[in-house]
Amino acid sequence: MLIVALPGGAHLSAALARALRCDWTELVLHRFPDGETLVRIDAPVKGRHVVLAGSLHQPNDKTLALLFAADAARELGAVQVGLVAPYLAYMRQDKRFHRGEAITSRSYARLLSSCLDFLVTVDPHLHRWPSLDAIYPIRTLVVPAAPAIARWIRHHHPNRVLVGPDAESTQWVSEVARLAGVACAVLAKTRRGDRDVRITGTGLAAHRHLTPILLDDIISTGQTLVAAADVLKAAGLAPPVCIGVHALFEAEASSRLLAAGVAQVVTCDTIAHPTNAIALTAHLARAVRSQVP
Ligand code: R5P
Repeated sequence: MLIVALPGGAHLSAALARALRCDWTELVLHRFPDGETLVRIDAPVKGRHVVLAGSLHQPNDKTLALLFAADAARELGAVQVGLVAPYLAYMRQDKRFHRGEAITSRSYARLLSSCLDFLVTVDPHLHRWPSLDAIYPIRTLVVPAAPAIARWIRHHHPNRVLVGPDAESTQWVSEVARLAGVACAVLAKTRRGDRDVRITGTGLAAHRHLTPILLDDIISTGQTLVAAADVLKAAGLAPPVCIGVHALFEAEASSRLLAAGVAQVVTCDTIAHPTNAIALTAHLARAVRSQVP
């Protein structure tokens, strides 16, 4: 097996290679003066299982490099080409919200499936699609973050209430609450724009004796968790601990969360970020091993 690090994927690739006892190499990229990109795999590929590795946040440039690398690997004689993308991009646009819009999650799935044999990811944003199989015709493996998050909660913050900021988070919140053995509640969110969300909640007073843990799959602008923290504060609860699976974090997200007075922010290591505290690489390595005889 050969792991090929996509842009930004060196740390993940080295960790996977250690766990899987195989070689890894960084995808070599050359940017021509006209803006076009050349990719090169600087290791023998013929007869090997090639696994491209890297999270797909800020996905546009990375995706083109991925497609070129997968194509090159196949042409150079790879037995199969897989992808480990702990964060899978473009899953949130799962409906034509306005006339004329692309349903990007499906288009992106077609694009990636055209050059890959399998895909391994962590908690993709499945809201309207029942599973990745609904849009990805290739083999897909989802590593759930819930067991690792529940372990972290049991170890650091037992006797808490787990709170989801919106209906979409119910799937993560209920599973983590079950595994961690804590109570849970889910708020209601209306999104009015990229940075404009409204959140409401009922029945929170019953949890006043417990410190809340807010849990969401993605932290991007941080506005969802800021608005949720405001609702908890208004209901008389203590400042929450915030847990996110995927730390997309635009530049001001951390300061927004701090200004909102949250007690702590913790994320899984699917995207490198100073808040990473919950490791999932070993689980990803196991999923890859299941795809490579
Ligand atoms: C979307 O519905 C997701 O589950 C997250 O709630 C959302 O992406 C968080 O985004 P932001 O941090 O920008 O509010």
